[in-house]
Amino acid sequence: MVSSRQVFLIFARVSYSFDVFIASLMDYRIVSADEAANLVHHGDVVAFSGFTAAGCPKEVPSAIARRAEQLHTQGKPFRISVITGASSGDAMDGALARAGAIDLRLPYQNVGDMRSAINEGQVRYIDMHLSEVAQQLRYGFLPRPRVAIVEASSISSRGEIVPTYGVGILPTICRLAEKIIVELNVAVPEALRGLHDIAEPTDPPHRQELPIYSPSDRIGSDCVRVDPAKIACVVITDRSTEVAAFNKTDEVTAKIAQNVAQFLEKEMHKGRLPKEFLPIQSGVGNVANAILKDLGNSPVIPPFEMYTEVIQDSVIDLIKWGRIRIASGSSLTCSAQKIEEILAALDFFRQRLVLRPTEYSNSPEIIRRLGVISINTALEADLMGAVNSSHVLGQRMVNGIGGSCDFTRNAFLSIFTTPSVAKDGAVSCIVPLVAHQDQSEHSVKVLVTEYGVADLRGLPPRERAEIIIDQCAHPDYRPLLRRYLDNCPKGHAPFNPSNCFAFHQTFAEKGDMRKQ
Ligand code: COA
Repeated sequence: MVSSRQVFLIFARVSYSFDVFIASLMDYRIVSADEAANLVHHGDVVAFSGFTAAGCPKEVPSAIARRAEQLHTQGKPFRISVITGASSGDAMDGALARAGAIDLRLPYQNVGDMRSAINEGQVRYIDMHLSEVAQQLRYGFLPRPRVAIVEASSISSRGEIVPTYGVGILPTICRLAEKIIVELNVAVPEALRGLHDIAEPTDPPHRQELPIYSPSDRIGSDCVRVDPAKIACVVITDRSTEVAAFNKTDEVTAKIAQNVAQFLEKEMHKGRLPKEFLPIQSGVGNVANAILKDLGNSPVIPPFEMYTEVIQDSVIDLIKWGRIRIASGSSLTCSAQKIEEILAALDFFRQRLVLRPTEYSNSPEIIRRLGVISINTALEADLMGAVNSSHVLGQRMVNGIGGSCDFTRNAFLSIFTTPSVAKDGAVSCIVPLVAHQDQSEHSVKVLVTEYGVADLRGLPPRERAEIIIDQCAHPDYRPLLRRYLDNCPKGHAPFNPSNCFAFHQTFAEKGDMRKQ
């Protein structure tokens, strides 16, 4: 049964665009979120649209969580596999994790309750390169989704689904799934159409180049086209974005951002970056936001482009100020306030924003061709320059690698940032050997903390270790790191099997790496 709220939402959208909206919905069954959730069964593989909390459905996942709770109280099993483009929001990962409704989750997450469920062994989690998810689904390396649940800003009677603020693996899951449940979000205007560039590559041996030669290139269509018969039902909602605004920048974050901007300015002066500059990829979070602001304010760096996976608040400001010419990504992970600003000047932003499937936004081929400068965050880095971004103490999953390896391995210049210490100084983020390796020393070119910049290019392992200690480590930890280095047995790389994890072991036993 359609609720009175849904009828109200239909009228709200009708007043906006009567003909298109009514014509499109005449062909589909409009149901409540709870009715849609009944189409999902125990053991199903369910794929969702979106990338971060942007573009993820919200009503149906929450209804699936309620259904799981009801079935569990009746003593019946209900657990599904959940596949998304990247992370999602609390309405999906949080609700489903709290309901104990997830058996398998991939490829990335960042919600507290999901993280706990993974680390307590209740959810089987696969941390993956985001660029590979769609193709691994097509290749059959991953279980084929039976149901796709997708958020749309509009849907036509011909089966044209226009995404909202995130794309992720949308075209692939719509094609592979037997059934599609559309969550039509009327809080997102139909006028968003035209922001997206939707394409799907063919698979080997027939794959050709992905023909993006500039971040502004558009090679696909403005919607996903599916067989209308596959659309099992439509749920209407007006739930707003779950993306939070950023915290105020603290002193350490500000210093890291300043170090990155100054380093890139020096690279310009040395002529190691072209005078037009190169497209930037930047990770998510406060550090990334602060770095972009500093790059935007730099008198040396010209207006630049972004070829990235996540477009966040600072990018929108820099576009308005003419400092970013174009931003291409897989999601607009912006706060509600920034989304309002975009919608208020949609014609302006449609020329300057492109949202693509992750297979394109994170494509190694395109990243290498464009010469992207990648900037990502580490939990810890070691004396060789290898980086751990995912596992605290090698064991506890934080979020996952996301697209960081897609970009780092293929970048023109790959930069990693981290505060020099965590946990009020009890943890050194520079360690002899990372407890879990996401990026090898072959991929990481530059390491930055609030103390300085270690430019690792062209240096053999022992020289890398010296510069990382001198430029990046916190002064409290420099003597301990130097002692480790001095006591490493002779050999090409600084490695001492007897105490390479002494920092981690000391933290586990005494709660402070300084107590060695
Ligand atoms: N050892 C133990 N704990 C550590 C640590 C270390 N070396 N470094 C940080 N932490 C802790 C922090 O204290 C904090 O704990 P809290 O939640 O209890 O306060 C937590 O880990 C997160 O640290 P924080 O500095 O707040 O992280 P962040 O928000 O800057 O995120 C990553 C850092 C690495 C988790 C995040 O960037 C990430 O998930 N990266 C991988 C994905 C990615 O790069 N995506 C973008 C690619 S396009």
